Amino acid sequence: MDKKNILAIDVGTGMVKVLAGRQEANGRIQLFGSGAAPTAGFAKGVITDIDALAHSIRQAVECVVLATDSRAAGSVYLGLSGSVLVTQTSIGTVAAATAGVVTGADVERACQAAVFSVADHEYEVLHVFPAREDVTQAGAALAVETHIISAPKATLAELSRVLSRSGIQLNGIVASGIIAAEGMNTELPGQPTNFIFIDIGAGVADISLYVKGRLRSSAALPLGGDYITSDLMQGLSVNRAHAEEIKRYYSRLSPDLRNQGVVLDCNDYGTVDKHIPFDFLYDIIESRVEEIVTLVYGYLKPLQAEYLTKPGQTFETVYLTGGCGAMPSMGACVAKFFQLPTTTVTPEGLSAEYVHPANTVCYGILKHGARITENEPVGGHSAWNTLVHKAKKLLKFDRY
Ligand SMILES: Nc1ncnc2c1ncn2[C@@H]1O[C@H](COP(=O)(O)OP(=O)(O)OP(=O)(O)O)[C@@H](O)[C@H]1O
Ligand SMILES: [Mg+2]
Repeated sequence: MDKKNILAIDVGTGMVKVLAGRQEANGRIQLFGSGAAPTAGFAKGVITDIDALAHSIRQAVECVVLATDSRAAGSVYLGLSGSVLVTQTSIGTVAAATAGVVTGADVERACQAAVFSVADHEYEVLHVFPAREDVTQAGAALAVETHIISAPKATLAELSRVLSRSGIQLNGIVASGIIAAEGMNTELPGQPTNFIFIDIGAGVADISLYVKGRLRSSAALPLGGDYITSDLMQGLSVNRAHAEEIKRYYSRLSPDLRNQGVVLDCNDYGTVDKHIPFDFLYDIIESRVEEIVTLVYGYLKPLQAEYLTKPGQTFETVYLTGGCGAMPSMGACVAKFFQLPTTTVTPEGLSAEYVHPANTVCYGILKHGARITENEPVGGHSAWNTLVHKAKKLLKFDRY
């Protein structure tokens, strides 16, 4: 087994997506396979049936294994989002080992103290993100505010156990939306920025808020493209698959078709003729798009005021991704509400077939897995060392 081969699994409400790849010596990721399967047992960020979910994951992984002639075997990272994840903010305070000098080791201890102060034996800490540090004037004490993401140990253990019975041994479970945002954050050129990263999928809108390049807040709201699909199913009396087709067809059309009396031919294999006025579709879809964005904006508005307290401090941009990011009107609506430039994020540097915002998160998990594998010291890591290792990288310890 070549550990440098990474298998990334993104558990979404609509699909389980899998990407297989490896990091080349030049740092680029070479993808050599992908797979997907409809998700069962997981909806809107809630695991409802672990066995059914494991079955979907296995199907998606099998697609890759078949397509790649088993080359996919390697390190496996699985991403989850939604209410299965718990987010906490915790401050760890320690005395500096040498008064007046704060070292990387001090910061590491402060992170550790922050985690211990919220430790709950029923939850496993997946990530620790240092958000802010304060040093007392005399330099004797250091306080580090951390953003901690955890998940119930029992759920993670059960999922790992069921998957391992199918031959899928997990090397790590990650918070998928946040990991995608982090990956993008580390690659942004120039100064650390204040930005909002939103991944709107089928059932969950994952939000990560960055101030000066540090993750300060994250949330998963039960909102996504399924709302639009369900409305189309009702409004047009079509099944789910047909409604999905119509939605994707609509999102390729120009909004200028409105008020032009255009009637769309929306036939699908095995269905009776379906001729739908563009304006009818527009009204259904755009009202739902606006509703989703209104709720996301309503959630984020108070946080903007909380985290950007200095005069003149603002968010600079919104990065939008997830399958709904493929709808031009979603991006336009986000830009309108937030009054900020909005960029749709797709995986970069890959062949055209993967360049879709629905793949950003899975690709983010893959890059994360590749980074961990690359930095893993010989002999492996304890769970805590892995967490602190990430914290260290984020804090850029050479500053001290
Ligand atoms: N071209 C497109 N036009 C309109 N909608 C699209 C397009 N492509 C994908 N979508 C929508 O994006 C959603 C799927 O996105 P994604 O794959 O990111 O979700 P997921 O990861 O399965 O679910 P979640 O992350 O919400 O749990 C679906 O609602 C789908 O209809
Ligand atoms: Mg998703």
